[in-house]
Amino acid sequence: MSSIGIDAVEIWSGKLELELTTTFADEKGDDPEKYADGLGLHASSLPDAYEDIVTMGANAAHRLMEREGITPDDVGRIDVATESSFDNSKPVSTYIAGCLEEVYDGDFHHANKGERKFACIAGTQSLDDAYNWIRAGRNRGRAALVVATDTALYERGDPGEATQGAGAIAMLVDEDPSLVELSAAQGYGSADETDFLKPNQQFPSVDGKRSVQVYLDRMLEAGQQLEAQTASVHPTDFAYIPFHTPFPGMVRKVALLGFRHTVRGTEMEDALADDIGFQPREAEFDDRDAYETAIREYMDELRETDAYEAWYADRIEPTLALSREVGNWYTGSVHVARVSALLDAHSAGEDLAGDRLLVGSYGSGAQAEMHAETVMDGWQDAIREVTIDDQIANRYELSFDEYESIHDVHNYEKDVPRTRFTTPSAEFVFDGWGPMGERQYRFVE
Ligand code: HMG
Repeated sequence: MSSIGIDAVEIWSGKLELELTTTFADEKGDDPEKYADGLGLHASSLPDAYEDIVTMGANAAHRLMEREGITPDDVGRIDVATESSFDNSKPVSTYIAGCLEEVYDGDFHHANKGERKFACIAGTQSLDDAYNWIRAGRNRGRAALVVATDTALYERGDPGEATQGAGAIAMLVDEDPSLVELSAAQGYGSADETDFLKPNQQFPSVDGKRSVQVYLDRMLEAGQQLEAQTASVHPTDFAYIPFHTPFPGMVRKVALLGFRHTVRGTEMEDALADDIGFQPREAEFDDRDAYETAIREYMDELRETDAYEAWYADRIEPTLALSREVGNWYTGSVHVARVSALLDAHSAGEDLAGDRLLVGSYGSGAQAEMHAETVMDGWQDAIREVTIDDQIANRYELSFDEYESIHDVHNYEKDVPRTRFTTPSAEFVFDGWGPMGERQYRFVE
């Protein structure tokens, strides 16, 4: 069996930028540090008036196909993960295929297409579907195109507003991949939760504080299940650990939990004991509350240790660089975190080939999944072409009034002029609605 994994990746950011530490914080009368330090975000990417989940997904896929020299005949499957879909029947993948067929001679009539939904974890589930399809031998030499695309908008005034974002990531899943190899081992943590949901509504209903705890609980379960399959997981086994990143402050919490859990019983816990003692064990306590208080105190001290700070700086911080500038892209978020780490390693001239990544995906509702990946020999060539830094630098910076007007443009309940702030060039754009309420698109030169 040949190896299977991500062969190539491309990202498309929404063209607009809302500065959180200045524009947003000023308007809300908040301390900018709440965003820069507390949530860990500087800015959000937002979609211009002619952008949506289809244009961003199609543009990312088009760029990927052009770069890799791929034609529709090479693709046997198009899976789109999104939680921003506008149709309960027709999948976004058909719209994206339709866009791509405008610019290629061939077509995708023989490609299986679908749309995956499970909040933010649907992007990882789509990768799994592609992996399983290839592993089952049903690909017949063809690759799968996986696109995670979202306009992660909240109701204005919702606490989640500062974590908004919009963008797409396209990933080519194939045999003998150049970027990372996926593996069969996976850990899941899944439970019926109502922390974040969109019951037939555009903007989410969110219990924000609870969603943070549900994320941590499910991720711990997933890590424990993975550990049970792979004998043990040591914090230094992995070069980077990209997590689903609704905002970097969330990753700060899950990383500390993961570190505490995986150093337990290792030589690292012994070394840390000189400074902060051994971790409290539940069996040593008469009741759960006392144990939890002791664990919280231990973690407060652990966070300040040199060992933890060095581990976090090397293996977690580089995964957050893009997220700080673009916000939450829901289904794409954990995959953007992977790219962020690989771009960081590339610019530092590191050789990661053969190193492993531990990837923690999450979707509200709720499910976490953890798996390991191996970086492949061709990773540098596969990552160096990703132009996300240029896209981030070239976004149009919105004033607060302009932000409100573009939020209204994308609000299904409002009928306002579709005033755009940028001029599209060599890309797919939204072009209005057809007679059956379908969305229409065209490629502009
Ligand atoms: P909030 O009320 O805006 O913020 O809500 P806060 O008051 O909780 O402050 C946030 C952090 O900033 C805190 O840090 C504050 O201490 C700190 P923490 O104590 O938690 O470490 N802070 C400051 N730091 C420095 N200087 C200051 C300052 N002020 C405050 N001056 C909340 C935050 C997460 C609830 C909100 O943003 C929200 O509702 N977000 C949406 C839900 C969300 O993202 N949940 C995350 C887990 S669920 C998930 O990831 C799934 C999701 O992606 C959806 C899906 O799966 O589809 C959302």
